[in-house]
Amino acid sequence: MIFRQLFDSASGTYTYILASRPGGEALIIDPVLEKVERYLRLIRELDLKLVKAVDTHLHADHITGLGALRDHTHCITVMGEQSQADVVSMRVAEGDRVEVEGLRLDVLYTPGHTDDSYSFLLPDRVFTGDTLLIRGTGRTDFQNGDPRAQFDSIFNKLLKLPDAMLVYPAHDYKGDTVSTIGEEKLFNPRLRVKSMDEYAELMNNLKLPNPKMMDVAVPANIRVGLHQDEVARKGWALSVGDAMALRDRSDIALIDLREKSEREKHGVIPGSLHLPYPQLPSEIGSGGMLYELASQPDKRIVFYCAFGERSAMAVQAAQDAGLKTACHIAGGIDAWKKANGPLVQ
Ligand SMILES: [Fe+2]
Repeated sequence: MIFRQLFDSASGTYTYILASRPGGEALIIDPVLEKVERYLRLIRELDLKLVKAVDTHLHADHITGLGALRDHTHCITVMGEQSQADVVSMRVAEGDRVEVEGLRLDVLYTPGHTDDSYSFLLPDRVFTGDTLLIRGTGRTDFQNGDPRAQFDSIFNKLLKLPDAMLVYPAHDYKGDTVSTIGEEKLFNPRLRVKSMDEYAELMNNLKLPNPKMMDVAVPANIRVGLHQDEVARKGWALSVGDAMALRDRSDIALIDLREKSEREKHGVIPGSLHLPYPQLPSEIGSGGMLYELASQPDKRIVFYCAFGERSAMAVQAAQDAGLKTACHIAGGIDAWKKANGPLVQ
């Protein structure tokens, strides 16, 4: 496995780049906006293709690099389903998996620091965000933080992992880079409490100043989505109503860009074809499935995904490749469901 831990000294943030092989797909966890050029250079140097960018939670101390990385690499942005960030391309919940070629991260919902805090688990290591830090825990006094929820996340989920499990947090201010579950059980001073009440008492009396960046970072991080407006301005967006009216016509090819797990969980628009978003580039070029479809007379390609982000990027890519009938369903399956559009499992 290719594994890199990168540090942003201004916010004390750790960012992780993971891939299973040189030349393969990569995933990044908790990127910082100011460091995006650095990540992109490293990704190029390691000959990787960034396909997913994940935030463990909505950060208050730095602006996320998710939007900039998506704009540069067309990667899929991933956050938890509770996140207030306006549009991310994929939302995950407890028990889901985040996959890139050769790697599968199990998703653990670990609220407490915020109500959208998640941890991501590989067989030998866990990315704990700000839930469990090295000899510390993330503060619980803003962004719907809750010390009792955090106690539950830590004691009933994270500390139940094997003692040898490596712990990679989202921050460290002392220079520690990695720990283990066993080490934190023994030596983390915040965890020397006898009860949830005692933990809540401890956390409610930390009296920490707000992060310097908080007033800037939180509003910026809530507005991650951008692509759909641009695509709509170019006339390449269908409303859910338009899409429903067109659905049964033989000149329409509906293309679902989501992953298999998302299709199974949320359902599929009847009659649609499946093409996971990362496979798009090979299908829109000459000889590709979509290229062939689009060259049939009057055939219209309609992409959709979970929230309309991946499909908006797909429309742009398809249009750039000369597939002039490509459009997408604005708002994706989420909007489709809200309008009671028909779905099959
Ligand atoms: Fe945080």
